[in-house]
Amino acid sequence: MPDKGGFPHYMIKEIFDQPQGLRDTVTPRISLQEGRVCLEQIHISAEDLRVVRRINIVASGTSRHAGMAGQYMLQELAHLPSDVDYASEFEFRNPLIGPGELTVVITQSGETADTTAAQREAKARGSRTIAISNVKNSTIAREADGVIYTLAGAEISIASTKAFTAQMAALFLLALYLGQERGTLNQEQVLQHLGELLELPPKLETVLKSSALCERLADQYCQAQDFLFLGRAIHYPVAMDGALKLKEVSYVHAEGYPTGETKHGPNALIDENLPIVIIATCDHNDASSMLRYKKTLANIRGFKKQSARVVAIASEDDQNIRELADHTILVPQASELLSPILEIVPLQLFAYYMAVKKGLDVDRPRNLVKSVTLE
Ligand code: BG6
Repeated sequence: MPDKGGFPHYMIKEIFDQPQGLRDTVTPRISLQEGRVCLEQIHISAEDLRVVRRINIVASGTSRHAGMAGQYMLQELAHLPSDVDYASEFEFRNPLIGPGELTVVITQSGETADTTAAQREAKARGSRTIAISNVKNSTIAREADGVIYTLAGAEISIASTKAFTAQMAALFLLALYLGQERGTLNQEQVLQHLGELLELPPKLETVLKSSALCERLADQYCQAQDFLFLGRAIHYPVAMDGALKLKEVSYVHAEGYPTGETKHGPNALIDENLPIVIIATCDHNDASSMLRYKKTLANIRGFKKQSARVVAIASEDDQNIRELADHTILVPQASELLSPILEIVPLQLFAYYMAVKKGLDVDRPRNLVKSVTLE
Protein backbone atom coordinates (compact mmCIF):
# COMPACT_ATOMS: atom_id res chain seq x y z
CA MET A 1 0.00 0.00 0.00
CA PRO A 2 1.41 3.44 -0.89
CA ASP A 3 1.98 5.58 2.18
CA LYS A 4 -0.29 8.46 3.15
CA GLY A 5 2.37 11.07 2.51
CA GLY A 6 2.00 12.41 6.04
CA PHE A 7 -1.76 12.83 5.71
CA PRO A 8 -4.08 11.16 8.29
CA HIS A 9 -6.18 9.44 5.60
CA TYR A 10 -5.82 8.37 1.95
CA MET A 11 -8.90 10.43 1.00
CA ILE A 12 -7.37 13.77 2.04
CA LYS A 13 -3.99 12.77 0.55
CA GLU A 14 -5.71 11.92 -2.76
CA ILE A 15 -7.64 15.22 -2.71
CA PHE A 16 -4.30 17.04 -2.41
CA ASP A 17 -2.78 14.79 -5.16
CA GLN A 18 -5.15 16.29 -7.77
CA PRO A 19 -2.96 19.10 -9.22
CA GLN A 20 -0.22 16.55 -9.98
CA GLY A 21 -2.76 13.98 -11.22
CA LEU A 22 -4.02 16.55 -13.74
CA ARG A 23 -0.50 17.45 -14.90
CA ASP A 24 0.43 13.77 -15.32
CA THR A 25 -2.81 12.98 -17.19
CA VAL A 26 -2.66 15.98 -19.56
CA THR A 27 0.98 16.79 -20.34
CA PRO A 28 1.99 13.54 -22.17
CA ARG A 29 -1.03 13.87 -24.48
CA ILE A 30 -0.55 17.35 -25.87
CA SER A 31 1.84 19.13 -28.26
CA LEU A 32 1.69 22.90 -27.81
CA GLN A 33 4.12 23.30 -30.69
CA GLU A 34 1.77 21.57 -33.10
CA GLY A 35 -1.36 22.76 -31.28
CA ARG A 36 -2.55 19.17 -31.20
CA VAL A 37 -3.87 16.49 -28.87
CA CYS A 38 -2.16 13.10 -29.36
CA LEU A 39 -4.06 10.05 -28.13
CA GLU A 40 -1.94 7.22 -29.48
CA GLN A 41 -3.77 4.44 -27.64
CA ILE A 42 -7.14 5.19 -29.24
CA HIS A 43 -6.44 2.77 -32.16
CA ILE A 44 -9.40 4.06 -34.17
CA SER A 45 -8.49 5.72 -37.49
CA ALA A 46 -9.31 9.36 -38.18
CA GLU A 47 -11.49 8.12 -41.08
CA ASP A 48 -13.55 5.98 -38.72
CA LEU A 49 -13.76 8.79 -36.18
CA ARG A 50 -15.08 11.13 -38.86
CA VAL A 51 -18.08 8.87 -39.54
CA VAL A 52 -19.02 8.37 -35.88
CA ARG A 53 -22.66 9.50 -35.47
CA ARG A 54 -23.13 9.28 -31.74
CA ILE A 55 -21.34 8.64 -28.47
CA ASN A 56 -22.66 6.48 -25.64
CA ILE A 57 -21.02 7.06 -22.29
CA VAL A 58 -21.42 4.23 -19.80
CA ALA A 59 -20.12 4.05 -16.21
CA SER A 60 -20.95 3.61 -12.53
CA GLY A 61 -20.77 5.80 -9.45
CA THR A 62 -18.43 8.79 -9.58
CA SER A 63 -17.17 7.72 -13.01
CA ARG A 64 -20.68 8.23 -14.40
CA HIS A 65 -20.71 11.78 -13.01
CA ALA A 66 -17.49 12.40 -14.96
CA GLY A 67 -19.33 11.03 -18.00
CA MET A 68 -22.17 13.50 -17.48
CA ALA A 69 -19.66 16.37 -17.62
CA GLY A 70 -18.01 14.71 -20.63
CA GLN A 71 -21.35 14.77 -22.47
CA TYR A 72 -21.22 18.61 -22.48
CA MET A 73 -17.58 18.60 -23.63
CA LEU A 74 -18.16 16.12 -26.50
CA GLN A 75 -21.26 17.90 -27.78
CA GLU A 76 -19.69 21.36 -27.53
CA LEU A 77 -16.21 20.63 -28.91
CA ALA A 78 -16.78 17.66 -31.27
CA HIS A 79 -20.44 18.36 -32.12
CA LEU A 80 -21.24 14.72 -31.35
CA PRO A 81 -24.64 13.85 -29.85
CA SER A 82 -23.89 11.96 -26.64
CA ASP A 83 -25.89 9.94 -24.12
CA VAL A 84 -24.92 8.88 -20.60
CA ASP A 85 -26.02 5.60 -19.08
CA TYR A 86 -25.77 3.84 -15.74
CA ALA A 87 -23.69 0.77 -16.59
CA SER A 88 -26.04 -1.35 -14.45
CA GLU A 89 -29.01 -0.23 -16.56
CA PHE A 90 -27.36 -0.28 -20.00
CA GLU A 91 -28.19 -3.83 -21.16
CA PHE A 92 -31.76 -3.55 -19.89
CA ARG A 93 -32.60 -0.51 -21.98
CA ASN A 94 -31.92 -2.49 -25.18
CA PRO A 95 -29.53 0.24 -26.45
CA LEU A 96 -30.10 0.79 -30.20
CA ILE A 97 -26.44 1.16 -30.99
CA GLY A 98 -24.24 -0.21 -33.78
CA PRO A 99 -21.12 0.26 -35.91
CA GLY A 100 -21.65 4.05 -36.42
CA GLU A 101 -21.50 4.65 -32.69
CA LEU A 102 -18.66 4.97 -30.22
CA THR A 103 -19.07 3.75 -26.65
CA VAL A 104 -16.90 5.40 -24.00
CA VAL A 105 -16.65 3.38 -20.79
CA ILE A 106 -15.25 5.21 -17.76
CA THR A 107 -13.87 3.39 -14.73
CA GLN A 108 -11.29 4.12 -12.03
CA SER A 109 -10.58 0.46 -11.26
CA GLY A 110 -11.19 -1.04 -14.70
CA GLU A 111 -12.81 -4.05 -13.00
CA THR A 112 -16.38 -2.93 -12.17
CA ALA A 113 -18.63 -5.79 -13.28
CA ASP A 114 -21.53 -3.64 -14.52
CA THR A 115 -19.19 -1.54 -16.67
CA THR A 116 -17.39 -4.64 -17.99
CA ALA A 117 -20.75 -6.14 -18.99
CA ALA A 118 -21.89 -2.88 -20.60
CA GLN A 119 -18.74 -2.71 -22.75
CA ARG A 120 -19.21 -6.32 -23.86
CA GLU A 121 -22.86 -5.51 -24.70
CA ALA A 122 -21.85 -2.49 -26.77
CA LYS A 123 -19.20 -4.48 -28.64
CA ALA A 124 -21.68 -7.32 -29.28
CA ARG A 125 -23.92 -4.74 -30.96
CA GLY A 126 -21.05 -3.57 -33.21
CA SER A 127 -20.04 -0.37 -31.41
CA ARG A 128 -16.32 0.49 -31.08
CA THR A 129 -15.26 1.21 -27.50
CA ILE A 130 -12.82 3.54 -25.77
CA ALA A 131 -12.03 2.92 -22.10
CA ILE A 132 -10.95 5.66 -19.70
CA SER A 133 -9.29 3.81 -16.80
CA ASN A 134 -6.94 4.63 -13.93
CA VAL A 135 -5.51 1.09 -13.75
CA LYS A 136 -3.14 -0.19 -16.47
CA ASN A 137 -4.07 -3.49 -18.15
CA SER A 138 -7.31 -3.74 -16.22
CA THR A 139 -10.01 -6.01 -17.69
CA ILE A 140 -12.01 -3.11 -19.17
CA ALA A 141 -8.88 -1.48 -20.64
CA ARG A 142 -7.69 -4.78 -22.18
CA GLU A 143 -11.09 -5.49 -23.76
CA ALA A 144 -11.56 -1.99 -25.23
CA ASP A 145 -10.65 -1.00 -28.81
CA GLY A 146 -8.86 2.08 -27.51
CA VAL A 147 -7.83 3.39 -24.09
CA ILE A 148 -7.01 6.65 -22.37
CA TYR A 149 -5.34 6.03 -19.02
CA THR A 150 -5.92 8.64 -16.35
CA LEU A 151 -2.53 8.99 -14.62
CA ALA A 152 -3.84 10.14 -11.22
CA GLY A 153 -1.80 7.48 -9.38
CA ALA A 154 -3.17 4.65 -7.25
CA GLU A 155 -6.50 5.59 -5.61
CA ILE A 156 -6.88 3.73 -2.30
CA SER A 157 -9.73 5.50 -0.54
CA ILE A 158 -13.10 3.97 -1.49
CA ALA A 159 -14.62 7.37 -2.25
CA SER A 160 -13.22 8.46 -5.61
CA THR A 161 -11.67 11.94 -5.74
CA LYS A 162 -8.51 12.37 -7.84
CA ALA A 163 -9.70 9.82 -10.44
CA PHE A 164 -12.81 12.01 -10.96
CA THR A 165 -10.92 15.19 -11.85
CA ALA A 166 -8.46 13.21 -14.00
CA GLN A 167 -11.41 11.54 -15.79
CA MET A 168 -12.95 14.94 -16.61
CA ALA A 169 -9.56 16.12 -17.96
CA ALA A 170 -9.27 12.92 -20.05
CA LEU A 171 -12.79 13.49 -21.44
CA PHE A 172 -11.87 17.07 -22.30
CA LEU A 173 -8.79 15.75 -24.16
CA LEU A 174 -10.96 13.18 -25.98
CA ALA A 175 -13.45 15.91 -26.99
CA LEU A 176 -10.60 18.12 -28.29
CA TYR A 177 -9.07 15.14 -30.13
CA LEU A 178 -12.40 14.24 -31.80
CA GLY A 179 -12.97 17.92 -32.65
CA GLN A 180 -9.46 18.11 -34.13
CA GLU A 181 -9.85 14.85 -36.16
CA ARG A 182 -13.40 15.66 -37.32
CA GLY A 183 -12.57 19.26 -38.21
CA THR A 184 -14.99 20.94 -35.79
CA LEU A 185 -11.99 22.62 -34.14
CA ASN A 186 -9.09 24.37 -35.87
CA GLN A 187 -5.53 24.47 -34.51
CA GLU A 188 -6.00 27.90 -32.92
CA GLN A 189 -9.09 26.75 -31.03
CA VAL A 190 -7.35 23.57 -29.85
CA LEU A 191 -4.42 25.65 -28.62
CA GLN A 192 -6.70 28.04 -26.73
CA HIS A 193 -8.49 25.14 -24.98
CA LEU A 194 -5.17 23.49 -24.16
CA GLY A 195 -3.97 26.75 -22.65
CA GLU A 196 -7.01 26.84 -20.36
CA LEU A 197 -6.54 23.16 -19.42
CA LEU A 198 -2.89 23.75 -18.46
CA GLU A 199 -3.95 26.60 -16.15
CA LEU A 200 -5.98 24.17 -14.01
CA PRO A 201 -3.28 22.59 -11.80
CA PRO A 202 -2.15 25.92 -10.23
CA LYS A 203 -5.81 27.00 -9.93
CA LEU A 204 -6.53 23.70 -8.15
CA GLU A 205 -3.71 24.48 -5.72
CA THR A 206 -5.50 27.75 -4.96
CA VAL A 207 -8.78 25.88 -4.33
CA LEU A 208 -7.02 23.50 -1.92
CA LYS A 209 -6.30 26.56 0.25
CA SER A 210 -10.05 26.55 1.11
CA SER A 211 -9.45 23.37 3.15
CA ALA A 212 -9.61 25.18 6.51
CA LEU A 213 -12.84 26.96 5.51
CA CYS A 214 -14.38 23.60 4.47
CA GLU A 215 -13.41 22.17 7.86
CA ARG A 216 -15.11 25.09 9.65
CA LEU A 217 -18.24 24.55 7.55
CA ALA A 218 -18.24 20.87 8.51
CA ASP A 219 -18.14 22.01 12.14
CA GLN A 220 -21.20 24.16 11.57
CA TYR A 221 -23.19 21.61 9.55
CA CYS A 222 -22.22 18.28 11.10
CA GLN A 223 -25.58 17.96 12.90
CA ALA A 224 -27.59 18.32 9.69
CA GLN A 225 -29.35 15.10 8.59
CA ASP A 226 -30.13 15.99 4.97
CA PHE A 227 -28.55 18.12 2.23
CA LEU A 228 -29.58 19.22 -1.26
CA PHE A 229 -26.75 19.77 -3.75
CA LEU A 230 -27.69 21.85 -6.79
CA GLY A 231 -26.12 22.76 -10.11
CA ARG A 232 -27.16 23.71 -13.63
CA ALA A 233 -25.84 22.36 -16.97
CA ILE A 234 -22.31 20.92 -16.73
CA HIS A 235 -22.31 21.88 -13.03
CA TYR A 236 -25.16 19.45 -12.24
CA PRO A 237 -22.79 16.42 -12.28
CA VAL A 238 -20.62 18.33 -9.77
CA ALA A 239 -23.65 18.62 -7.48
CA MET A 240 -24.35 14.91 -8.02
CA ASP A 241 -20.84 13.93 -7.01
CA GLY A 242 -20.73 16.35 -4.06
CA ALA A 243 -23.88 14.63 -2.75
CA LEU A 244 -22.38 11.19 -3.42
CA LYS A 245 -19.17 12.01 -1.52
CA LEU A 246 -21.16 13.12 1.52
CA LYS A 247 -23.31 9.96 1.41
CA GLU A 248 -20.32 7.66 0.90
CA VAL A 249 -18.11 8.87 3.74
CA SER A 250 -20.37 10.62 6.31
CA TYR A 251 -23.55 8.50 5.96
CA VAL A 252 -25.65 11.71 5.77
CA HIS A 253 -28.54 11.71 3.29
CA ALA A 254 -27.78 14.05 0.40
CA GLU A 255 -29.40 14.49 -3.01
CA GLY A 256 -27.96 16.03 -6.14
CA TYR A 257 -30.50 17.83 -8.32
CA PRO A 258 -30.62 20.20 -11.30
CA THR A 259 -31.21 23.65 -9.79
CA GLY A 260 -33.98 24.52 -12.27
CA GLU A 261 -35.90 21.40 -11.27
CA THR A 262 -36.32 22.40 -7.60
CA LYS A 263 -39.48 24.35 -8.33
CA HIS A 264 -41.01 21.17 -9.79
CA GLY A 265 -41.07 19.38 -6.42
CA PRO A 266 -38.05 19.53 -4.07
CA ASN A 267 -38.90 23.14 -3.24
CA ALA A 268 -41.52 21.68 -0.86
CA LEU A 269 -38.63 20.30 1.25
CA ILE A 270 -36.60 23.50 1.37
CA ASP A 271 -36.60 25.28 4.73
CA GLU A 272 -34.22 26.02 7.62
CA ASN A 273 -33.68 22.26 8.18
CA LEU A 274 -32.39 21.41 4.69
CA PRO A 275 -29.01 23.02 3.92
CA ILE A 276 -28.46 23.82 0.24
CA VAL A 277 -25.05 23.46 -1.40
CA ILE A 278 -25.18 25.19 -4.79
CA ILE A 279 -22.74 25.65 -7.69
CA ALA A 280 -22.97 29.35 -8.60
CA THR A 281 -19.79 30.03 -10.56
CA CYS A 282 -19.84 32.17 -13.70
CA ASP A 283 -17.71 32.51 -16.85
CA HIS A 284 -18.16 36.19 -17.77
CA ASN A 285 -16.94 35.52 -21.33
CA ASP A 286 -19.75 33.04 -21.97
CA ALA A 287 -23.33 34.26 -22.58
CA SER A 288 -24.97 30.96 -21.60
CA SER A 289 -22.90 30.94 -18.41
CA MET A 290 -24.12 34.46 -17.60
CA LEU A 291 -27.72 33.37 -18.17
CA ARG A 292 -27.24 30.33 -15.95
CA TYR A 293 -25.69 32.56 -13.27
CA LYS A 294 -28.60 35.03 -13.34
CA LYS A 295 -31.09 32.18 -12.92
CA THR A 296 -29.04 30.72 -10.06
CA LEU A 297 -28.97 34.10 -8.28
CA ALA A 298 -32.78 34.19 -8.47
CA ASN A 299 -32.97 30.62 -7.10
CA ILE A 300 -30.76 31.53 -4.14
CA ARG A 301 -32.95 34.56 -3.36
CA GLY A 302 -35.97 32.21 -3.37
CA PHE A 303 -34.27 29.67 -1.06
CA LYS A 304 -33.34 32.47 1.36
CA LYS A 305 -37.00 33.58 1.43
CA GLN A 306 -37.76 30.02 2.58
CA SER A 307 -35.16 30.42 5.40
CA ALA A 308 -32.83 27.88 3.86
CA ARG A 309 -29.12 27.92 4.80
CA VAL A 310 -27.12 28.24 1.59
CA VAL A 311 -23.50 27.25 0.97
CA ALA A 312 -22.39 28.48 -2.46
CA ILE A 313 -19.40 27.71 -4.69
CA ALA A 314 -18.73 30.99 -6.53
CA SER A 315 -16.12 32.55 -8.82
CA GLU A 316 -13.31 34.45 -7.08
CA ASP A 317 -14.42 37.96 -8.16
CA ASP A 318 -18.09 37.44 -7.29
CA GLN A 319 -19.80 39.96 -4.95
CA ASN A 320 -23.50 39.08 -5.44
CA ILE A 321 -23.30 35.51 -4.17
CA ARG A 322 -21.30 36.52 -1.09
CA GLU A 323 -24.06 38.96 -0.13
CA LEU A 324 -26.81 36.37 -0.63
CA ALA A 325 -25.43 33.04 0.61
CA ASP A 326 -24.73 32.13 4.24
CA HIS A 327 -21.33 30.76 3.28
CA THR A 328 -19.36 31.20 0.03
CA ILE A 329 -16.35 29.20 -1.13
CA LEU A 330 -14.51 30.96 -3.94
CA VAL A 331 -12.79 29.18 -6.83
CA PRO A 332 -10.61 30.75 -9.55
CA GLN A 333 -12.24 31.75 -12.83
CA ALA A 334 -12.23 29.05 -15.51
CA SER A 335 -14.11 28.29 -18.72
CA GLU A 336 -17.59 26.79 -18.44
CA LEU A 337 -16.39 23.33 -19.57
CA LEU A 338 -13.43 23.20 -17.20
CA SER A 339 -14.79 24.93 -14.10
CA PRO A 340 -16.32 21.64 -12.77
CA ILE A 341 -12.78 20.31 -12.20
CA LEU A 342 -12.24 23.13 -9.67
CA GLU A 343 -15.77 23.21 -8.22
CA ILE A 344 -15.79 19.59 -6.98
CA VAL A 345 -12.75 19.98 -4.72
CA PRO A 346 -14.37 22.02 -1.88
CA LEU A 347 -17.24 19.49 -1.90
CA GLN A 348 -14.73 16.62 -1.54
CA LEU A 349 -13.08 18.48 1.37
CA PHE A 350 -16.44 19.21 3.04
CA ALA A 351 -17.46 15.53 2.87
CA TYR A 352 -14.06 14.48 4.21
CA TYR A 353 -14.24 16.80 7.24
CA MET A 354 -17.88 15.81 7.94
CA ALA A 355 -16.72 12.17 8.14
CA VAL A 356 -13.74 13.05 10.34
CA LYS A 357 -15.96 15.08 12.70
CA LYS A 358 -18.27 12.08 13.01
CA GLY A 359 -15.28 9.83 13.83
CA LEU A 360 -16.02 7.54 10.87
CA ASP A 361 -13.63 5.29 8.92
CA VAL A 362 -13.10 7.78 6.09
CA ASP A 363 -11.17 5.47 3.73
CA ARG A 364 -13.24 2.31 4.34
CA PRO A 365 -16.89 3.43 4.64
CA ARG A 366 -19.35 0.72 5.68
CA ASN A 367 -21.10 -1.41 3.05
CA LEU A 368 -18.88 -0.10 0.19
CA VAL A 369 -15.93 -1.54 -1.74
CA LYS A 370 -13.44 0.13 -4.09
CA SER A 371 -14.59 -1.91 -7.07
CA VAL A 372 -17.83 -3.92 -7.34
CA THR A 373 -16.68 -6.97 -9.28
CA LEU A 374 -19.92 -8.93 -8.91
CA GLU A 375 -23.01 -7.90 -10.92
C1 BG6 B 1 -17.78 1.97 -6.25
C2 BG6 B 1 -16.74 2.90 -5.64
O1 BG6 B 1 -17.61 0.68 -5.76
O2 BG6 B 1 -17.66 1.94 -7.66
C3 BG6 B 1 -16.95 4.30 -6.21
O3 BG6 B 1 -16.90 2.92 -4.23
C4 BG6 B 1 -16.84 4.25 -7.73
O4 BG6 B 1 -16.00 5.20 -5.70
C5 BG6 B 1 -17.75 3.19 -8.34
O5 BG6 B 1 -17.14 5.50 -8.26
C6 BG6 B 1 -17.36 2.92 -9.79
O6 BG6 B 1 -16.07 2.34 -9.81
P1 BG6 B 1 -15.11 2.41 -11.07
O7 BG6 B 1 -13.83 1.78 -10.58
O8 BG6 B 1 -15.73 1.62 -12.17
O9 BG6 B 1 -14.93 3.85 -11.43
